[in-house]
Amino acid sequence: MNLVLDCDPGLDDAVAILVAARYADLIGITTVAGNVGINRTTRNALVVAQLAGLDVPVHRGAGKPLAGEPVDGSRIHGETGLGNAVLPDLDRSEASDDAVAYLCDTARSVDDLHLLAIGPLTNVALALQRDPDLRRHLAGLTIMGGSASAGNITSVAEFNIWADPEAAAIVFEKAAPVTMVGLDVTNQVVVGAEETARMRAAGTPAADLAADVTDFLRDRFRQYVGQSVVPLHDATAVIAVTHPHLFERSRHPVAVEVGGEITRGMTVADLRPPALIEAIGPARVAASDIVWDTDVDAVRELIVEAVLAY
Ligand code: BDR
Ligand code: CA
Repeated sequence: MNLVLDCDPGLDDAVAILVAARYADLIGITTVAGNVGINRTTRNALVVAQLAGLDVPVHRGAGKPLAGEPVDGSRIHGETGLGNAVLPDLDRSEASDDAVAYLCDTARSVDDLHLLAIGPLTNVALALQRDPDLRRHLAGLTIMGGSASAGNITSVAEFNIWADPEAAAIVFEKAAPVTMVGLDVTNQVVVGAEETARMRAAGTPAADLAADVTDFLRDRFRQYVGQSVVPLHDATAVIAVTHPHLFERSRHPVAVEVGGEITRGMTVADLRPPALIEAIGPARVAASDIVWDTDVDAVRELIVEAVLAY
């Protein structure tokens, strides 16, 4: 399977890059501002690729959301976006500063292409504005983002959607069906000290980085959430693409709230019976595949094994 990963590394994005390159043909990485600014996310993507010895182009994308100013996730991800990992000097550079053009061109020129977005959806929305037919050229479009239950950055909003709700609204509406790997499932797949220790023992640069970022994330979670195991949201989303049989999903209308004072960035899933929706509407909300459940142990093991393979 050919995969392009749109990301904002980001602690769990870093692990996701390693996992994606292990289980798919990772043909390109595009970056977006999100967890940290675009300079950092782009540099971090290059760092991960370098430490893992990946020959994959990195294209710089949007530095701010469609509306408003960039958000800041450094409270969780650290100032650099990769916790307190010691980062090497780069021996490579970005392939272009036009991720949107890369996405549009690649969608048309590469067969069996899956696009997985694990950051704010700015690049994907801009690509859809440039090429309204984009979705037709993709074998699949999956996002890590949203929630059909609780949020994480607000009571109802998940970070990636909240960081650019206008972009998310475009993507859910114009690129349906989107596979939504949201907090409903990603919060279930947690790693703890045991998994970090296994990564650390591998002793390779890539596994060391994964151990560093999971350690850092655990520290932050202890501080803010009071738990010592952490979800690797983005890595779980990769496995949902590469090992879909391990996941349960169902199709429902999903709309993104862009206006609400309290609910901005919420993914509003319509879980009513289809006949009822048909009878009383609203009729025009695009449907998405919401991923609900998975074989947690299998996914966790696939993530750790991918890291150990470097
Ligand atoms: C998502 O938000 C980011 O902080 C993570 O990298 C992940 O993509 C989880 O809500
Ligand atoms: Ca991310």
